[in-house]
Amino acid sequence: MEKTFLMVKPDGVQRNLIGEIVARFEKKGFQLVGGKLMSIPKELAEQHYGEHKERPFFGELVDFITSGPVFAMVWEGENVIATARQMMGATNPKDSAPGTIRGDFAATVGKNIIHGSDSPESAEREIGLFFKQDELVEYTKLM
Ligand code: CMP
Repeated sequence: MEKTFLMVKPDGVQRNLIGEIVARFEKKGFQLVGGKLMSIPKELAEQHYGEHKERPFFGELVDFITSGPVFAMVWEGENVIATARQMMGATNPKDSAPGTIRGDFAATVGKNIIHGSDSPESAEREIGLFFKQDELVEYTKLM
């Protein structure tokens, strides 16, 4: 079953949106298979956002994601990578539709509440950066 890495960013945690965000993915029918509240070390932030290293906002991005606790998660389900991206809304909240997480709760591209893997390759890479295999659970298939 497909897995993705999602993370409530420091702005989402401080605005008490963890429950709201988790509820949306639960109600959609996806399963939470890993989750932890954590502070991201600078080195992990630089690795996680490595593809943006040359961007002018890279320093700002790393400073922001390490500025307070995040809630890192692994979710499982059919087409969860693409569907979670749809539920999150466009990266820039000025383009994200009402009804999406960013459309409903975010106003700026830097502080856009949530991160989600954009492909199977990045999901595998990001899950591996944030979680050890024994931190992920398996459910017996009842549904
Ligand atoms: P995320 O999905 O976490 O992946 C990269 C992040 O870079 C993105 O969400 C935005 O929060 C951030 N980002 C993109 N463009 C800018 C920008 N112009 N200034 C600051 N942050 C940005």
